[in-house]
Amino acid sequence: TIRDKGIVNNKLSNALMQKLEKEGIPTHYVQEINDRDTFVKKVEIVPLEVIVRNVAAGSFSKKYGVPEGTALNNRVVEFSLKSDELGDPMINDSQITAIGVATQAELDELRAMALRVDELMTELFAKCGIRLVDFKLEFGRAGGELLLCDEISPDSCRLWDAETNRKMDKDRFRRDLGNVLDGYRDVLARLQAAHV
Ligand code: TMP
Repeated sequence: TIRDKGIVNNKLSNALMQKLEKEGIPTHYVQEINDRDTFVKKVEIVPLEVIVRNVAAGSFSKKYGVPEGTALNNRVVEFSLKSDELGDPMINDSQITAIGVATQAELDELRAMALRVDELMTELFAKCGIRLVDFKLEFGRAGGELLLCDEISPDSCRLWDAETNRKMDKDRFRRDLGNVLDGYRDVLARLQAAHV
């Protein structure tokens, strides 16, 4: 248990969702109602994790033998099927359409939205001295539209200090680096200082 992490993530995620909405990304965000709760639009979740990578890290580094921190020639977009039972296996477009999880038109839109979110968040975090290494997004269907859903926080992004490469995200927990909440609070403080 990391006490009060939910409060920090609620604020962080809501600030990012509102910023992205202003920049033209449709999101599920409606209103923050208290420290730990937020109203969001009701959606039918697309059971995919959409991962964008700007720098090699995590499972990508491990799977392909690319040292963490290596610059990539192009951005990577990956899909994983959301299934605890199956261990969220990586899945490609033809597999997704074959089993009816999403249509090709939806996948094209998800990919375009994820890359746009990457551009906006990379710029935003750069202003705060933070490098956006990679992140995971989820989307939902509502009223014939795809909306950005779930949360965007240090639990779902890799965020490194731009100067020192110090990790400010869930890898502090995953790798037992200590001071997990300090990293999250630092991200929130920097975003607030930049008036996000
Ligand atoms: P990975 O390197 O472990 O595949 O993770 C890539 C990014 O996606 C990283 O920022 C963490 C995030 N992520 C989640 O938020 N939830 C998940 O279940 C997984 C596997 C990754």
